[in-house]
Amino acid sequence: MAISYEAVVVGGGPGGYVCGIRLGQFGKKTLVIDAGKLGGVCLNVGCIPSKALIHATKTYKKAKDGAVMGVIAKDIAVDLKQMVAWKDGITAKLSGGVGQLLKANKVDVLQGQAVLDGPGRLRVSKPDGTTETVHAQAIVLATGSSPIQIPGFTFDHQTILDSTDALALTEIPARMAVIGGGVIGLELGEVYARIGTQVTVVEAAERVLPFFDADVVRPLQQKHAKLGIKYLVSHKAKGWRPGEGGGAVLQLEDGKGQPVELAVDKVLVAVGRRPNSAGLGLETVGLQADARGFIGVDKQLRTSVPGLYAIGDVAGAPMLAHKASREGEVVAEVIAGHKGAAMDVACIPNVVYTDPEIATVGPTLAELDKAGVKYKTGKFNFGALGRALTANAGDGFARIVTGEKGDILAVHIVGPEASELIAEAGLAVEMAATAEDIALTVHAHPTLAEAMLEAALAATGQPLHQVPTK
Ligand code: NAI
Repeated sequence: MAISYEAVVVGGGPGGYVCGIRLGQFGKKTLVIDAGKLGGVCLNVGCIPSKALIHATKTYKKAKDGAVMGVIAKDIAVDLKQMVAWKDGITAKLSGGVGQLLKANKVDVLQGQAVLDGPGRLRVSKPDGTTETVHAQAIVLATGSSPIQIPGFTFDHQTILDSTDALALTEIPARMAVIGGGVIGLELGEVYARIGTQVTVVEAAERVLPFFDADVVRPLQQKHAKLGIKYLVSHKAKGWRPGEGGGAVLQLEDGKGQPVELAVDKVLVAVGRRPNSAGLGLETVGLQADARGFIGVDKQLRTSVPGLYAIGDVAGAPMLAHKASREGEVVAEVIAGHKGAAMDVACIPNVVYTDPEIATVGPTLAELDKAGVKYKTGKFNFGALGRALTANAGDGFARIVTGEKGDILAVHIVGPEASELIAEAGLAVEMAATAEDIALTVHAHPTLAEAMLEAALAATGQPLHQVPTK
C-alpha cells in the first residue's frame, strides 16, 4: 500500500524535526521518517547527552576544587551509572517532547529506514519487517552524519569506541586514548579526565583544535595540562593489539616517523564525521554526492533534482545542529512558497564545550591573514573581570575583530560561559552592529558579558579596565 504527502522529511534530527514543525505550521500535509528516535544524533547521542555529562562532571570537579573558596566537601564520589541514567532521562524527555511538537502541528511520524525509489517516491523498511511506499511532492533529506572509522580501528564498541559508546560507559576507565583532538575528542576526553581517567589525546595535526587560532586554544591547553590530560600531537594512529590484561596497546607514529606504543583500557575514535548520503538511493533520481559525501544544494536548499531538498550535515559543513535547524526552517518556507526564503545568515556560532569553553563567530585571525584582510582587535582578559574571578574562572579572553570601519568581522571567546556570551556577538554581526554599538550598550555589572563590553571598548581605542597597549 502506498501513502501520499505534500512533504516528506527523511530524518528527525534538529534539521528534520524543525523542518517538520514548520511545514505543519504552514498547513502542509507532512510526514517525518526516522529509523531511530526523534531528535536524531544531537538530542539522543550527541549535543544534549554530552552536555549532561560535561555538566555533571564539572559539578564533581567544582565540589572537589571548592576548598580555595572555603567550601570543604568530603567523600565526593562519582556514580557513573546514575550519571548516565540521569542523562538518559533528559534525552528521553526531550525526544518525547519532539514527538509531541510534531503531533501538535499535525505532522505524521513513521519509524523506518527510508531510501529514494525514483522521483517523488520513497521506500521505507519498517521495524516489523514490512515496507511502505511513500509518495511526496517535496522530499527533504535530513539524514545527518556518522562517525568516521579509520583503518585499523573498526569500532568494536567495547575497546574501540565511537562517541555514542563513550556517552554510555558505566565504569570509569583507568586509561583512555582519544584519537582526534577535535571537538568531540576534547569534550568527551575532558569528561573522563575530570572523574579520574588518565586521558591521552592523539592528534595528527601539530596542535589540538587546529581549526581555531592558537592563542584561543592556549588557555584550554594550560588547563588540560593541570587536569593531567596528555597530548600526543603530530602523532598518527596506525593500529592496535589487545593488551595483556585487556584493553589495547596502540601503535602510533610520531612526527619523525618513529613508532610509539601506548597502553590504554579504552580508545575513543573521534576524527570527524561523514555525511549519511550512501545507501539513500540517490542514483534512482540521478543525483550524486560529492567526493566527501555531501549533497550539493543552493541557497534554497534545493538539490539538482526538482522537488528534492537537503539540509543539515548531509548538505555540507559546518556540521552543527543550529545550522541544520535554520536550514530546516528555510527549506520549509521554500516548500511553502514563501517569496525570498533563502539560507542567508551573517554568521553561525561555533562552540566547544570544554573548560574553559571556546565560542566564536566569523573567521579566525589566521583565515583573515590568509585572505589579506586588514583588521584591528580589541581584547579583554577574564582574569581582570570581577564576575569571572568571583566564579573562580579567570582563564581566557574575549576578542572582537573589526574591519576598517569598526564593523565586526569576528568575535573569539575562550573563557567561562563562552557558549552563552557568543549570543551577543552573533546578534551584533547579524544586525551589522559595530564595536562602538557594543561599547555604547550598558552591560549589567558584574557580569561575564562585561568582557564583550571591555573588548569592544578596546576595539574602539578606548579601553577602560585595562592599561592601553602602545
Ligand atoms: P573534528 O573535525 O572536530 O576533529 C577531528 C580531529 O581529528 C582533527 O583535529 C583532526 O586533525 C584529527 N584527526 C583526523 N584524523 C586523525 C588520525 N588518523 N589520527 C589522529 N588525529 C586525526 O571531528 P570530531 O571531533 O569527530 O567532531 C565531528 C563534528 O561534529 C565536528 O566537526 C562538529 O561539526 C560536530 N560537533 C560539534 C560539537 C559542538 O558544536 N560543540 C560537539 C561535537 C561534535
